Amino acid sequence: MTNYVIETSDLIKDHTSPFLRKKFRALDRVTIRVPEGQTYGLLGLNGAGKTTFLKLLLGLLKVTDGQVSVFGHEPGSPKALARIGFLPESPYFYSHLTAQEFLDLVGKLFGMNGKTRKAKSLELLAMVSMAEHAKRPLRKYSKGMLQRLGLAQSLMNDPDILFWDEPTSGLDPIGRRDVRQIILKLKSQGKTIFFNSHLLPDVNEVCDHVGILHRGRLIGEKAITDSAGTGRYQDLEKYFLETIAQADQSRSANS
Ligand SMILES: Nc1ncnc2c1ncn2[C@@H]1O[C@H](COP(=O)(O)OP(=O)(O)O)[C@@H](O)[C@H]1O
Ligand SMILES: [Mg+2]
Repeated sequence: MTNYVIETSDLIKDHTSPFLRKKFRALDRVTIRVPEGQTYGLLGLNGAGKTTFLKLLLGLLKVTDGQVSVFGHEPGSPKALARIGFLPESPYFYSHLTAQEFLDLVGKLFGMNGKTRKAKSLELLAMVSMAEHAKRPLRKYSKGMLQRLGLAQSLMNDPDILFWDEPTSGLDPIGRRDVRQIILKLKSQGKTIFFNSHLLPDVNEVCDHVGILHRGRLIGEKAITDSAGTGRYQDLEKYFLETIAQADQSRSANS
């Protein structure tokens, strides 16, 4: 029997706009299942509902209707959170702290002891190629460096699953390549990785499975099995654009 670590069923989320006092359906009956060890890329244009979906998995937003579970637990419950690493879309950092101090603080929040915190911080800083910058205050970091630190903080509690919101956006080509390499390394350790993106080449290189979210609906899902890398990008781009065009066509035909 397949062990699903993320399971949603007909998940619905309505946002209420404070200005218009109108309900807006950001997610409409989304059913996604992610087995253990899979790297799943949720694709979609800006505003498709990707961040909303992640927030529901984390328990940061309340579900309007439908079901969602992470490791069989309710999102946001201590049992679920203990196994999750999270990289938000715009991570916020305390600019006066150094990278090492920041990771130490994250470790404290997870209740880790001093020795473990130090060992884990150094291990992760090396992993994200930031060891030499460990003692610089964060205000002196570039966007790419902050993003790498964001990835490192999401790994402090040695999570089994990673929820990353746009991990490669805003990075230069070297930063993007580094993030892809980190993902491949975590994959080889058996972690389940779920991330949002609209950067198709990145998704193409590292994901096992993709889903396309469009106007709050999951309009397509596809396995990416060929890991040789030949021609995968073209195929994914074609698939992405065609699936969206089809969905828009049937939407206008029905309205
Ligand atoms: N807190 C909120 N209140 C009202 N509307 C929101 C809120 N968060 C997101 N939305 C709307 O929901 C839709 C999906 O947003 P989001 O999940 O951020 O998409 P994505 O991450 O794919 O760009 C957008 O139209 C956005 O404006
Ligand atoms: Mg988003």
